[in-house]
Amino acid sequence: MDGNGRWAKERHLPRSFGHQRGRRALRRLIESARRAHIPVLTLFAFSSENWIRPQAEIDALMRLFAHALERDIEAIHANGIRVQFIGERDRLPPKITALMRDAEAKTAQNQALRLLIAVSYGGQWDILQAAIGLARTAQNGLVDLNDASQVRVCFEQGLATSDCPPVDLFIRTGGEQRMSNFLLWQSAYAELYFTPCLWPAFSEQHFVTALTWFAERNRRFGGVET
Ligand code: IPE
Ligand code: MG
Repeated sequence: MDGNGRWAKERHLPRSFGHQRGRRALRRLIESARRAHIPVLTLFAFSSENWIRPQAEIDALMRLFAHALERDIEAIHANGIRVQFIGERDRLPPKITALMRDAEAKTAQNQALRLLIAVSYGGQWDILQAAIGLARTAQNGLVDLNDASQVRVCFEQGLATSDCPPVDLFIRTGGEQRMSNFLLWQSAYAELYFTPCLWPAFSEQHFVTALTWFAERNRRFGGVET
């Protein structure tokens, strides 16, 4: 979800205003995804690298995040959406992690859409966590390192997205064509969709355009067309 700062700058407004409008775009997208019967939607809200931003911007983002968790969660729950968070929780303020836990507990039984929110998340961090998990399991003699499929299952169990399917469609707004350490392992065969649209302006129509583009892809997963 990139482009909040530029969206605000174009309007001579502070970056934090762009983030607020980004929250609106987020609410809109969650609804569109639910209506489109998307099973899993993962949003990149704050990356491991975003911690190098000025403290004032980080504070504004955390405040906005707390607000969203307090106020938007009712509507999310009422719409049958299950929320989960992925990322390094230790680095987040305790108030935020408490709200995250509440949101996860409240919506745990919901079935309409699984919403994963990546906060303080990095794809390399995720892979390293999974590697540590695999090493520990091997140390305990519970995985045979000569059995490639066992190794893979054990490794993937250690990923933050362990019980989710791999990424099918990867959307990046804001014009940059890079993955910026998002779901690296999970996006091995994702279709990559880049749009110049700045995140606060991303509408249901933009989302439908991306889905239509995705539907036209010929996915071979390394095989040949049949
Ligand atoms: C994305 O918008 C929001 C977060 C990373 C939290 P940016 O803040 O990166 O906006 P630009 O890229 O400066 O326009
Ligand atoms: Mg950016």
